Amino acid sequence: MKLKIQQHITLMVMVMVIIFLPYSISISISPSLSPSQSPSPSPLDPKQLKALHFLGLSSHNPCSNPSPHHNATSCDSSHPFRHIISLTLSNCTSLPSLSLSLRSFSSLSSLSFINCSVPPPRHLPSSLHSFTSNSSLRHLSSLLLSRLHNLTSISILSVPITGSGLPLILSQMPHLLSLTISQSNLSGPLPSSLFSLPLTHLDLSSNNLNGTLPIFPASSTHLQYLNLENNNFHGVIPYNSSFITRLQLFKVSGNPNLCYNHSILSSKLSLGVAKCDQYGLPISPPPAADSPRKSNSDDSLDDEDDGSLKSTNGEHHGGGGPNKLVLGVAITLSFLVFLVIFLLCISKACGCR
Ligand SMILES: *[C@@H]1O[C@H](CO)[C@@H](O)[C@H](O)[C@H]1NC(C)=O
Ligand SMILES: *[C@@H]1O[C@H](CO)[C@@H](O)[C@H](O)[C@H]1NC(C)=O
Ligand SMILES: *[C@@H]1O[C@H](CO)[C@@H](O)[C@H](O)[C@H]1NC(C)=O
Ligand SMILES: *[C@@H]1O[C@H](CO)[C@@H](O)[C@H](O)[C@H]1NC(C)=O
Ligand SMILES: *[C@@H]1O[C@H](CO)[C@@H](O)[C@H](O)[C@H]1NC(C)=O
Ligand SMILES: *[C@@H]1O[C@H](CO)[C@@H](O)[C@H](O)[C@H]1NC(C)=O
Ligand SMILES: *[C@@H]1O[C@H](CO)[C@@H](O)[C@H](O)[C@H]1NC(C)=O
Ligand SMILES: *[C@@H]1O[C@H](CO)[C@@H](O)[C@H](O)[C@H]1NC(C)=O
Repeated sequence: MKLKIQQHITLMVMVMVIIFLPYSISISISPSLSPSQSPSPSPLDPKQLKALHFLGLSSHNPCSNPSPHHNATSCDSSHPFRHIISLTLSNCTSLPSLSLSLRSFSSLSSLSFINCSVPPPRHLPSSLHSFTSNSSLRHLSSLLLSRLHNLTSISILSVPITGSGLPLILSQMPHLLSLTISQSNLSGPLPSSLFSLPLTHLDLSSNNLNGTLPIFPASSTHLQYLNLENNNFHGVIPYNSSFITRLQLFKVSGNPNLCYNHSILSSKLSLGVAKCDQYGLPISPPPAADSPRKSNSDDSLDDEDDGSLKSTNGEHHGGGGPNKLVLGVAITLSFLVFLVIFLLCISKACGCR
């Protein structure tokens, strides 16, 4: 009997390993850089090769190192010399020549720092289309960022922003499609320049932003992802349910002075905020955002706590969306298969008694 159960458990573990293998693979293949595939005979610009060397990135072939999770580079295919177009630096502890090296990357399009706790460079290449700083560069000045006029994607996570914040950063950045500045100590109201941007992705969560929530113009139908949770916004949520359900992800919980008009929005949307009274003030304290699955005994708090909507297919940094979807399906399927096997094992274990 004991042996039998052990066999069953071994079998189950094996099945789980097999099931979850695709999961880990799909994580590792989710690409965030676009490698230049065609092998070109022309060599890398010697000046840029030297700059890479100064950064400690003296790989044999810097033009085919597109791993998204490691120090990575990719190049264009120009002649007579190729140029670095994308650069990712991760887990760095010191980059003494960062400012100097960046000056050499005149056609850099994408620059990412992941867990690089080094001082910020004095200057960033104005050619950048995509800039990422994830727990990196210690602090970033609004002025430094505001000079990147060609950015379509900015992702700053867990890096304090110094200076006047969003109004300055966005003042001359008209092409922005994806804006993430989270856990960055931003304060004040949202600037109106935000609403003329062609945004598909807006994440300003976990800052200290205040004022009322923005009303997006009817033309901003491309918006897919809106995360404004854990700020200090107040007033009535100005969106109707067709606006909210059209989004892949909508989060506004963790704003204690925000409320929703229950004659416009159903409590079934589970926004994680309280209902409004007739003056547009929260009727009762909103459910705590960080204590999910609390029992909702209070009638006026018939919301779920986490304030997320369809969050399984949210989060699509750098075009990883489809992979996330595949992941979700994989996890669901795995769970179902696991359940069936578990039930089989149980029934077998019972049968042999
Ligand atoms: C990435 O580059 C930085 C800076 O040169 C270096 O400190 C770090 O060790 C490198 N990491 C890997 C995994 O090569
Ligand atoms: C960075 O460090 C983390 C934790 O030590 C590790 O999991 C990750 O693979 C490292 N990344 C690189 C590029 O070395
Ligand atoms: C960040 O980088 C440091 C230094 O390389 C490393 O010790 C640490 O484990 C990394 N942390 C993460 C979360 O990658
Ligand atoms: C920004 O993009 C435009 C059009 O792609 C280009 O002409 C211009 O040179 C770029 N600006 C910088 C500073 O690279
Ligand atoms: C956050 O901003 C406040 C002012 O708004 C400032 O006093 C504080 O030092 C900032 N914190 C960090 C970590 O930069
Ligand atoms: C928003 O916060 C700023 C400080 O960050 C404060 O000066 C301002 O009065 C606040 N506005 C509202 C409407 O609370
Ligand atoms: C919802 O709001 C949008 C504007 O945000 C408006 O265009 C649309 O007509 C509204 N839909 C309903 C059903 O009220
Ligand atoms: C809620 O919506 C109703 C119907 O549109 C409106 O009459 C009422 O004034 C709104 N209440 C608040 C507090 O905005």
